[in-house]
Amino acid sequence: MNISSTTQVYGVIGSPVRHSLSPILHNAWIADHGLNAVYVALELKNENPIAALRALGSFGVRGANVTVPYKEAAARAAGATDLAVANVLRWDEMGGQSAFNTDGLGFVHALSESQPDWRARVKRVLVIGAGGAGQGIARALSPHADTLHIANRTPARADETAALIPNGRALRWEDLERGFGGADLIVQTTSLGMTGQPDQAWPVEMCRDGAIIADIVYRPLETPLLAAARSRGLATMDGLGMLIHQAALSFELWFGIMPDVAKARARLMAALAA
Ligand code: ATR
Repeated sequence: MNISSTTQVYGVIGSPVRHSLSPILHNAWIADHGLNAVYVALELKNENPIAALRALGSFGVRGANVTVPYKEAAARAAGATDLAVANVLRWDEMGGQSAFNTDGLGFVHALSESQPDWRARVKRVLVIGAGGAGQGIARALSPHADTLHIANRTPARADETAALIPNGRALRWEDLERGFGGADLIVQTTSLGMTGQPDQAWPVEMCRDGAIIADIVYRPLETPLLAAARSRGLATMDGLGMLIHQAALSFELWFGIMPDVAKARARLMAALAA
């Protein structure tokens, strides 16, 4: 990569963000396409994240991913009226700012890649977690489902998310067993099971035989939930697919090019193994 005074800067903004795999993904795609750009991790520590995010455009930054805990600030910074949370910001040549959310569609693309026949198999969906990622995924899956249950440790957030979705229903955390038993697709969107984070025993024994179990956690690649599902013979999907596909959609929004997702998986597997 030849960095010069004309190189355009892109990045991922969050806190913490030093563990992010997004720079590996985007810099490799930038090199694949010979673009004069660079993608860096920017740890934001600021009491006014909305002002900080808006200021990026005045430095000529053209695009950014935004992650925990600034996805709401990103939507507000761009004045988005149709989005509560955004993971992509884009600035035009005049500094005008737009916000997008590619998490939900990224998840759907990953699911289609991993389980090509999922649309025929899935009628009842259970989304575990009503944070930024859970909301985005629930909204994207809603048109493909008859019913969509949302379970969250803090019930008020499940209620709020369910109220935004036409076929959404909140499920109490104590009722997870029933939720597992009734779903064709279960999507785990919380930090449970992530390396260094707490986990809990999931009632995988309750699952239907044809159920698909997806986890958006990718450290470790096979979470305890996925390991339990796999040993029961269920179809599983790990968290790398969504990471790659939300990034690919971000890249397309910035550069107008859909990058190679298969190459990206090989690169991330190598980075995770290192
Ligand atoms: P993200 O954008 O990754 O979804 P987030 O908006 O901070 O991040 O949401 C984190 C999600 O993980 C929430 O659903 C959170 O549940 P609460 O709303 O009850 O906080 C969930 N979560 C985090 N730690 C958890 C734990 N120990 N047990 C259950 N849920 C947990």
